[in-house]
Amino acid sequence: MNAPMSTKESTALLDLGADFPILSRPVNGKRLVYLDNGATTQKPALVIEAERDFYEQSNANIHRGVHWLSQHSTDLYEQGRESVRRLLNAERAQEIVFTRGTTEGINLVASSWGRVNIKAGDEILITGMEHHSNIVPWQMLCEQTGAHLRVVPVTDSGELDMDAFNALLNARTRLVGVAHVSNAMGTVNPVQEIVRLAHEVGAVVLVDGAQAVAHQKVDVQAIGCDFYVFSGHKLYGPTGIGALYARYDILKNMPPWQGGGDMIYTVSFEKTTYADVPQRFEAGTPNIAGVVGMDAAIRYTETVGLDLIAAHEQQLLDQATQAIQTLPGIRIVGTAAHKAAILSFLVDGIHPHDLGTILDTEGVAIRAGHHCAMPLMTRFGVPGTARASFALYNTSEDVQALIAALRKAQKLFGTGNER
Ligand code: ALA
Repeated sequence: MNAPMSTKESTALLDLGADFPILSRPVNGKRLVYLDNGATTQKPALVIEAERDFYEQSNANIHRGVHWLSQHSTDLYEQGRESVRRLLNAERAQEIVFTRGTTEGINLVASSWGRVNIKAGDEILITGMEHHSNIVPWQMLCEQTGAHLRVVPVTDSGELDMDAFNALLNARTRLVGVAHVSNAMGTVNPVQEIVRLAHEVGAVVLVDGAQAVAHQKVDVQAIGCDFYVFSGHKLYGPTGIGALYARYDILKNMPPWQGGGDMIYTVSFEKTTYADVPQRFEAGTPNIAGVVGMDAAIRYTETVGLDLIAAHEQQLLDQATQAIQTLPGIRIVGTAAHKAAILSFLVDGIHPHDLGTILDTEGVAIRAGHHCAMPLMTRFGVPGTARASFALYNTSEDVQALIAALRKAQKLFGTGNER
């Protein structure tokens, strides 16, 4: 890993692009300016090497073999669990369940916890800025049980309407589902306060941390939440791996949601007894190499330092927010007081998809569309937005490249009369 740059060399706090092999490949003949980190982050060489090394040196199935390799592989897998515990500051490693990612974590809670805790007439409270993965599993649970889905409205600046939240919260509310950071706007939600209020009425809280864990320090004990979910691939780790944190006293009373090997204690045709947590929720051979890769990614972010990453990305967000407003016809969607490194915007006269395509010809990768948050787009009366999302390897030069590419797009569309 390269040392952080001194302020004399650059205005940016970090300059770690060299750790990420893909960033040195050109795209469309231009330097790759990767600003689609909300969708997935690029991987440092040490994560790629950790996965390769696992298959070359350590591969065996876990929790099964008496042979050395199996025990070694099991140790690496459980070491990965301990790394997730540390990342989230959970009290115990038993509170960490490996999943395929955020979506699977939420579905696990909806189908296991939901099956025994939700009945007709109960209410599940989510927010108007949730990703589809924190909407649809709850809708499905409501359809199955006769419970009702309630939604906290979003203000014009893209914040939660906390008065409405308080008004919607009541003794029938059984679960509150909320994004820690909005994937479509970057709003950082007051999750600690939400948990405090929800617990007062006896509701549990699931926090979707997909857009948070790579961008700020997360402490589930300080937040006080009951469930926290995230994906490894948004944290510089591999795809297909993530984790669910669930408070031990809740998790140990949850029934299994998938049956199979590794989640049982004994099996007979008359009766099966289940393994203790967290194995009860990890049926079948898991993504062992994925855990090893995610462990390497967690260690990488710890070495760089999440506070430094947050400060670096905040600088980039501020720089981009100021610079984009010097262009004519720009509307930023999401102007919350507390934002993480996501800038969603519209450019007058250019559809977000066209904008994304033109920027791509300049080597600038952004996301354009509804960002899997269609209800939020409806709330703002737009079909979608263009979204630049930053990561630890982005630099001031990347922000300048984004602005230059936007100017070019406006020139092409004849909408670029400078303010
Ligand atoms: N949830 C990812 C995003 O926001 C895919 O782009």
